[in-house]
Amino acid sequence: MKKLFSLLTLLILSTGAFSQGNNYAQNYSKFNGLALTPPMGWNSWNKFACNVNEQLIRETADAMVASGMKDAGYTYVNIDDCWHGQRDSLGFIQPDPERFPSGMKALADYVHAKGLKFGIYSDAGSQTCGGRPGSRGYEFQDAQTYASWGVDYLKYDWCNTEGLKAEGAYMTMAAALQKAERPIVLSICEWGNDKPWEWGPKVGQLWRTTGDIYNCFDCIEDHGTWQSFGVMQILDKQEGLRQYAGPGQWNDPDMLEVGNGMAVNEDRAHFTMWSMLAAPLIAGNDLRHMNKETIDILTNKEAIAVNQDKLGIQGFKHSSKDGLETWLKPLAGGNWAVVFLNRGDGPQKVEFDWKINPITDELSKAELNASKTTYKIRNVWEKKAAGTTAKIFKAEIPKNDVVMLVLSK
Ligand code: GLA
Repeated sequence: MKKLFSLLTLLILSTGAFSQGNNYAQNYSKFNGLALTPPMGWNSWNKFACNVNEQLIRETADAMVASGMKDAGYTYVNIDDCWHGQRDSLGFIQPDPERFPSGMKALADYVHAKGLKFGIYSDAGSQTCGGRPGSRGYEFQDAQTYASWGVDYLKYDWCNTEGLKAEGAYMTMAAALQKAERPIVLSICEWGNDKPWEWGPKVGQLWRTTGDIYNCFDCIEDHGTWQSFGVMQILDKQEGLRQYAGPGQWNDPDMLEVGNGMAVNEDRAHFTMWSMLAAPLIAGNDLRHMNKETIDILTNKEAIAVNQDKLGIQGFKHSSKDGLETWLKPLAGGNWAVVFLNRGDGPQKVEFDWKINPITDELSKAELNASKTTYKIRNVWEKKAAGTTAKIFKAEIPKNDVVMLVLSK
């Protein structure tokens, strides 16, 4: 009897193992059901670069709660590059013992105890961009380690990847995460080189579409061998990508620079456009020291609701004239977000006659027809009602600023 029992157990176990192996071979892909709306959180890189340690991460988690950001929807607390120490004699990656003396499991526990989620960073190559150990050749071991620490989000970079093909390298990590059996969001950071929007949807939940953002509204920063891009430059690079976005699969135009030194109107325009793009909202500033304007921008619930709309339709540029752009984003319930962005040289007047401008989104087929339906208008930054679409909308917009409206039936 005992023998039969253990034989049965063996059979069940091996069928389990077989079907798991089989699934893995068939799917070879990501966890489903993650990031059904664009991920929201914080990442250390834009403000702190390699200057990360456990105290900063704990204080950031505290500040995310105290500032109201958690209530507004921010969830992930993500450490970017340079947390790593060496691999041990068995190849397991260790955190830098001086910067993270309590270890990553303790830090993840701290973040989780606040009702938040914990993210980490690695690289598909031999070394990260900051010269720390990469995951190449250690993918399954690293994924297992991250799962054992309680990691919820992995940003996976693309430095030092000579000889690798992006799709395969990211698929390997996706498979490793599956094998580790912890649902971990995979943030593909391949800078758009190999069209990650084409293969990313089956591999990860988001993919960078461009090189790094730079903390300016309208400039290109030349670093010699590479360039980073201002908010407007990154915005322009999103053209033609909206059909790839949707629940569980997002174009990532890089992390936010709100609160890092641009003018308030520029921060507002940046946050607005990222909301319209259904972009991940990953704050990149020092959450421990924010002025009121920065908090107001990052926690504007109406702008966030546009970003987090459950349809997950990325917005589009409807028209552009003399630096005045009109952007639209279809929302659930037949509602719309509308943005007038002034990126011209001075203040500009906008006059928009809803009735003579019926709009159909070719991608989603959503229709905005003010001669059929009168919509109520809400001004998102002024946080007040702004009449209806029965009247021509008029406003003056300062340079590098926006008017953001939500039209509802
Ligand atoms: C690359 C990424 C950045 C950041 C750094 C870290 O440049 O694109 O977002 O992660 O590496 O070294």
